[in-house]
Amino acid sequence: MKKIYGIGVGPGDKELITLKGYRLIREADVIFAPKSKGISTALKIAEEFISDKKIVELEFPMGEDNSSRYKEAAEIIRKTSGETGAFLTLGDPMVYSTFIYLLSELDKIGVNAEAIPGITSFGAASNITKTPLTLKGDNFYLCDGEINLDILKNSQSVAVLKTYKDKKKILSILEENGFEYVYVKRCSTENEVILRDRTAILEDKDYLSLIIGRRRNNG
Ligand SMILES: C[S@@+](CC[C@H](N)C(=O)[O-])C[C@H]1O[C@@H](n2cnc3c(N)ncnc32)[C@H](O)[C@@H]1O
Repeated sequence: MKKIYGIGVGPGDKELITLKGYRLIREADVIFAPKSKGISTALKIAEEFISDKKIVELEFPMGEDNSSRYKEAAEIIRKTSGETGAFLTLGDPMVYSTFIYLLSELDKIGVNAEAIPGITSFGAASNITKTPLTLKGDNFYLCDGEINLDILKNSQSVAVLKTYKDKKKILSILEENGFEYVYVKRCSTENEVILRDRTAILEDKDYLSLIIGRRRNNG
């Protein structure tokens, strides 16, 4: 590829793809889609716009060391012929994303790459649940599964992604530190679920879920 764009396709609703992301997807000669254990959420979000395109699926199994796969994927992208490629990524490319690791491998082998921002999962979830992330002077804390207490104590709101790691611990920490919380699963999709009840949250299991916490009496 002469140029590869890492494109954030947003959290699930295809209308939450940016106009720039959409245009670059439509203009791309080849679509690259990350998969984990055969599933590509990013591909599903954009599927309506890429049915006429060549699609190259790249497997990065979740929970495994994918270092060599990032190198191989960068080589595949370099060797694929075409003017521009679109590497689809869930939410925003710079937030807990495969594209971050791939980008560093692409840089090493001299492939021209650019990241196109997308709407994050927690940004969408905070809007959908009408939970403010920041008011004037607030600190917002983003983490993936494990909460650092020192940071939490200095934050008015928190978004915890990858909740599957230990939801019970996450909820207990939030309760003990004076936070209200909301659990959002598959936000902005037709399977979206919003839960506030502790038991219901603990019963649910879904990789595509997050928890937003907001310190009580903080807007
Ligand atoms: C590898 S991270 C990707 C984050 C993504 N780049 C972003 O900007 O939001 C995957 C985690 O994002 C969260 N996530 C992504 N899409 C989501 C959605 N539609 N609803 C709820 N959580 C979502 C979940 O916590 C999931 O475990």
